[in-house]
Amino acid sequence: MWWDPRPLMLGALCVMTLAPPVAGCGHRPAAPAAAAPPPPPAVPSAAPPPPTLTGTRIAATAAGALVIDADSGALFAIDRDGRATAQVPIARDAGLLAHDPVRGIVFVADRGSDRLVVVDARRMVAIDAWPTPAEPFGVALTPDRATVLVTTIADRTLIALDARSGAEQWRAALSREPRGVAVSPGGTHVLVSSIATGALDDVALAAPHPVTTIPFDLECDRCEPGTVFARGSGGVIFLDAHRAVASFQREVPESSFVRTSGYGGAAFAPPVTHHLAFLSFPDHGLGAPIQAVAQVAQHQPRALVWDPGGDALYVAGLGSDSLLHLPGLTRATTDGVEASASDAVLRARGRCGPDGFAITADRDLLVVRRMHGTGLARSQVETLVAYLEALPPPRTPTRDPAAVARGRDIFDNAGGCTTCHEGTLYTDGALHTFTGMPTAADTPSLIGLAASAPYFHDGSAETLDDLLRGFGTARDMADLSSLTLAQREDLKAFLETR
Ligand code: HEC
Repeated sequence: MWWDPRPLMLGALCVMTLAPPVAGCGHRPAAPAAAAPPPPPAVPSAAPPPPTLTGTRIAATAAGALVIDADSGALFAIDRDGRATAQVPIARDAGLLAHDPVRGIVFVADRGSDRLVVVDARRMVAIDAWPTPAEPFGVALTPDRATVLVTTIADRTLIALDARSGAEQWRAALSREPRGVAVSPGGTHVLVSSIATGALDDVALAAPHPVTTIPFDLECDRCEPGTVFARGSGGVIFLDAHRAVASFQREVPESSFVRTSGYGGAAFAPPVTHHLAFLSFPDHGLGAPIQAVAQVAQHQPRALVWDPGGDALYVAGLGSDSLLHLPGLTRATTDGVEASASDAVLRARGRCGPDGFAITADRDLLVVRRMHGTGLARSQVETLVAYLEALPPPRTPTRDPAAVARGRDIFDNAGGCTTCHEGTLYTDGALHTFTGMPTAADTPSLIGLAASAPYFHDGSAETLDDLLRGFGTARDMADLSSLTLAQREDLKAFLETR
């Protein structure tokens, strides 16, 4: 049996908490009962899925590796000794890359300038740049390498471009904050992870490219129904045509913890825990997958890599500087996976913040490190705060300028919003109390609002629509009851573009 839904241990540092088939908290995805056995393992396909199907920071090449460094903004060619041999400037804060080893081409997302840069990897020169919707990030190739798929964060789209001409073939609307992207080896669908929604978007590659949502299974026996939520999904990867793994973090608001006591007193459960979701898709590749969830010790497990030769999955914890090694994932039983899982704490060699992974032809594991250092002094914290305050605001989605102008008028005049949301940051920096709110809250800045859901200090408004509908009742910030639906849409367009 493979990935059976019951508790198991992953590695020395990790405790697996597969969802038990009892009433728990949160919604259950439209999946068969947890007690149902998963499908028998698919016959392992002869050809392992190529790495080109997954957006990544690093790709192994015959000569070494190609790495996109978001901090310097350069695409580096690295030799087998880890030395940079050539570089192509792309842009600071670049997104992910996809490498076509056959054509010797790399596609890199330029997140700040809304373009996909095409680089000749053999000569290390940029040869083209294709426009994309706002804030491209994830990049992957279809199995035939004929199509490049790009996710865009601010405009929430998946676009398909002809890999030779850059001509747009189609696009599909995604949920907010898309990040990781993985194409199924059968070429039937694409999974897109989101750092905000607690679900994967599953996009069919066949027209008309319907998008289905796969919520992560959040059942837990320590929390009240409906309060627990997931977010922070970064890594997603296919193991074969039917199986995929995605990482996410589960959050239980502290107030809703169900306190239990175990041997030796009250058991402590951290409010934020990190998980892997193991998804088994039906034979035809599409439709609701069976899901088993494991808790892991890796914090912010963003980068995943699959080594088909070694039949092993590696999961890097960006926040914990640790690495989980899961061998025998496609062949072994759950027991086998449990017994052979092991962790490596990368911190032993200095903090590294592993952010990207690749496996070479010789089956060496390449890791991109993002952070160094051993902790911060107070003065460094102050410098860091100054740096953070100087960062450019988040990119905003494209909206009809006329609607934005009408929305601004409502915000400035009819809504009375500027009483509190004043100045360039839209805040008076003061405390206010509203009806039905036990404690006062600071007026928040409205910059980057499109990317910062859920809203209010307690996350009680899930979307801007909820927030604007609730005006005059829930929070009494302002009375918008006289606004028409169209005017609310205009106000929303204004708010989303701050
Ligand atoms: C009396 C002061 C005041 C007025 C007037 C006011 N707000 Fe607010 N606004 C606040 C405070 C305080 C909060 C934070 C409430 C909380 O966190 O629970 C807030 C929160 C918000 C948020 C959520 C921001 C986030 O990141 O969570 C939005 C959006 C917002 N206001 C928009 C508006 C709009 C639009 C108007 C005018 C129609 C308006 N506000 C009028 C004080 C005000």
